[in-house]
Amino acid sequence: MDRLAQAVALLKAGELVAIPTETVYGLGADASNPAAVARIFAAKGRPADHPLIVHIPDSGHLERWARDIPTAAHTLAAAFWPGPLTLILKRQPSVSDVITGGQDTVGLRVPGHPLALALLEAFSAAGGSGGIAAPSANRFGRISPTSAEHVREELGDRVALILDGGPCTVGIESTIIDLSREQPVILRPGAISAAQIEAVLRSLPLCDPTKATTTAAPRVSGSLEAHYAPRTPIRLVAPADLPEALQTLRSQGLSLAVLARTPPPAALAEAPHWLAAGSDAASYAHNLYAALRQLDHAAADLILVETPPPAAEWQAVQDRLTRAAAGAGQELAG
Ligand code: TXA
Ligand code: MG
Repeated sequence: MDRLAQAVALLKAGELVAIPTETVYGLGADASNPAAVARIFAAKGRPADHPLIVHIPDSGHLERWARDIPTAAHTLAAAFWPGPLTLILKRQPSVSDVITGGQDTVGLRVPGHPLALALLEAFSAAGGSGGIAAPSANRFGRISPTSAEHVREELGDRVALILDGGPCTVGIESTIIDLSREQPVILRPGAISAAQIEAVLRSLPLCDPTKATTTAAPRVSGSLEAHYAPRTPIRLVAPADLPEALQTLRSQGLSLAVLARTPPPAALAEAPHWLAAGSDAASYAHNLYAALRQLDHAAADLILVETPPPAAEWQAVQDRLTRAAAGAGQELAG
C-alpha cells in the first residue's frame, strides 16, 4: 500500500495522521469521527474547549460543514483557496462539539499543499467525510512544526503516520477571518494580509480586531498570550540596541543566542549562536519556527530576537514573536 492509501486507511480507522500543509504540519483525524478527533486533544495535551480547523478538498465541501454562508466566504475562497486562509462560519448542526469546542461556528480551510490536497481527495473518494480536523502538530503551547522531523520531535509515536511533504513553504499558521458576525474580523494574522483581504472584499470593511477582541470574541488558542514558545526565554530587542544588549548580558555571564534578519556584523561575528532568518517577511516567516527550534536546542540562557520592522507585511511575524516572548521558558497550561 502506498503512503497515501495507508493514510486514508488509518484516518478511516480513527487513527491520527500528521499531514504537511503550506503553513505548518497538522495533526489530522477524520472530522466526522468524534472519538478520532478526541485523540488529537490527548496527543497534543490541548484543552478540550479549543476548537479545531476542518480541512476540506475544495470549496464545494463548504455546505457539508457550514450554514448561512455569506457571499464574502465564496469570494475569499475563490481568491485564496487553496491557501493559507481559514474561514470561521456558522456550523452545520451535524458538526461535532469536539471540533468546535461547543461553539456555534466552525473553522474551514483548503490547504495549498499538493500532498494534503491529494490526501483530502483520496479520503473523500474512499467514502470518508472529506474533512480532516487538524490543529498544528505540536504539543500544546509549543512551536508549530514546519517539517516532518519537527513532528517526530513533538509527537513521536503519538501519531500513527507522518506524511512527509518536505519543509512548509509559508512557515507560519494561516490567517483566520471570522465571517460569522455582522462584520468580518481577522482573529489571527498570517501570510494573507488584511490589505489583501480588504482588496478582495472591497465593499465589506474589516472590523478593527482590537475592538472585536474586547467584545464577544470566540476562544482562539492562538490568541492566548503565551503561545508558540520555545523553552529558552526570548527577549525582543530593537536592532539598534542589539550590540549593547549582547555586550551587557554577556558580561553578566549569560550564554546568548540571537535571531536576526541578517548575518552578524563583523564586530559581533564571534556571537556563538546567531541565526539570520531572512530580510524579507516571507522568507523570515518560512524560516522562523525552524530557527527558534534550532536556537532552543543551543540551550542558551536567553534568545535575543531582533524586533522586526513595524511595516504591515511583518505583522504576522511580529504577532508570533510577541507571543513566543510572552510564553518562553514558562510552564504553559496543558
Ligand atoms: O495554518 C493553519 O491554520 C494550521 C494548519 C495545520 O492548517 N492549523 C492551525 O491549527 O494552526 P491550530 O489548531 O493550531 O490553530 C487554529 C486556530 C486555533 O487558535 C483555534 O482556536 C482557531 O483556529 N479556531 C478554530 N475553530 C474556530 C472557531 N470556530 N472559532 C474561532 N476560532 C477557531
Ligand atoms: Mg497551533
